[in-house]
Amino acid sequence: MAVSHSAIVILGASGDLAKRKLIPALATLFEQGEIDHTNVIIGSGRSEYTDAAFRARFDIPGDFASLLFYYAGVTGLKKFIESKGRFDQIVVFMALPPSVYSLRAKELADEGFRDETRLIIEKPFGYDYASARQLNDQLHEVYDEKQIFRIDHYLAKEAVQNILVFRFANTLFDPIWNSRQIESIQLSAFETIGVEDRGEYFDTAGTIRDMAQNHLMQLLCLMTMEAPVSLEAEEIRAQKINVLKTISIDSVYRFQYEGYRKERGVRPDSTTETFAEIKLYINNFRWTGMPVYIRVGKELNRKGTEIGIQLKPLPKLLFNQDGRVQANRVIFKIQPAEGIILDLSSKTPGSENRLAQTTMKFCYETEFDVEIPEAYQTLLLDALRGNKTLFVSAQETEMSWQKYADFLDKGEIDFYKPGAPPKTKLDVNWIDFERYGSACD
Ligand code: BG6
Repeated sequence: MAVSHSAIVILGASGDLAKRKLIPALATLFEQGEIDHTNVIIGSGRSEYTDAAFRARFDIPGDFASLLFYYAGVTGLKKFIESKGRFDQIVVFMALPPSVYSLRAKELADEGFRDETRLIIEKPFGYDYASARQLNDQLHEVYDEKQIFRIDHYLAKEAVQNILVFRFANTLFDPIWNSRQIESIQLSAFETIGVEDRGEYFDTAGTIRDMAQNHLMQLLCLMTMEAPVSLEAEEIRAQKINVLKTISIDSVYRFQYEGYRKERGVRPDSTTETFAEIKLYINNFRWTGMPVYIRVGKELNRKGTEIGIQLKPLPKLLFNQDGRVQANRVIFKIQPAEGIILDLSSKTPGSENRLAQTTMKFCYETEFDVEIPEAYQTLLLDALRGNKTLFVSAQETEMSWQKYADFLDKGEIDFYKPGAPPKTKLDVNWIDFERYGSACD
């Protein structure tokens, strides 16, 4: 059923996020019939626009454009919405600098936005444990947790959503999903881009805050959590929290690409990391003793996010008497070319018992010949429907910050040349994800 009679408010509507992501995502949802013409979309910001001038900022068809209105500021916004009709719910997307989240939430409450209101909040959510807690407290003063939708756009990626399906809708994997069978889990998130025009923000954050504390912890939780009691958002969150509780970070190494200090907005003596290596443990019955390794950063040789499950070696018997047969791996290609790859040993044709490393690949795109929805389409639609599964709870975000409390901005920084990862400081046999190519080859 299409979403109807909702007012969708974008605070910060004259900004980049609204133009690049939010309005196009809403336009696609409208085109697909997921939201109908009984909804309104109200942009709000500091700039003054007429409705026509606001609509003209976007490349959108006329029937969708007629849902768009503009109102400057928050004072009087509730009345303005009411002048457009009666709406069952108001969903407010805060496309704003994090420093004003709590202030705007309070202003909205003062304006009379009450139980019918949901707030969607972009990352970064806090700067560390204390600030995340403070922000949660301030938001909770005016809105209930059930009204708050914290975005982690990685959760909306199709391949990420498939992690739970893969694990809990197949019987093949669960028996091996533990530290008795698995040697390590390796998460890798490489980007080719540097900080681009976000130097000022990035320099106060760094890779650990920007990527590891949020996106990669979420991936890890989904990969390692116990089966939830049901598929309700609260049950899934409860299992993620159980994993987070038991995580202990063992070591963190920080690196910076050469030339970073010359980027616009970056301090000339900055010690902010643009690449990080992390080793951690999950101290529960299933995962005890098995290390998790993370490598994440910018200005690298390729764009790719993968999770590798490295199984334990074969016994030195039969085909593996010399111990050289590669143990199995399961590789989740989160992006690009989403899919799953199994690394298996196989006999090469001919009479000799010679083995080869082979792969079995599952590729989304070719398997289900449909376009994969853009993250913001999924997130906006879920928020409109009140489904919180893909959003992060207050407790998750706080706990995740808490785990990194002793590691933010700590330790020396090493440098690396743009275009390749730095030499590792961890004693790890890193999976060469590039070797597997795309899941869609
Ligand atoms: C964002 C970070 O959350 O994720 C960016 O702030 C990063 O620095 C981006 O580039 C990566 O997202 P994706 O979807 O391109 O992997």
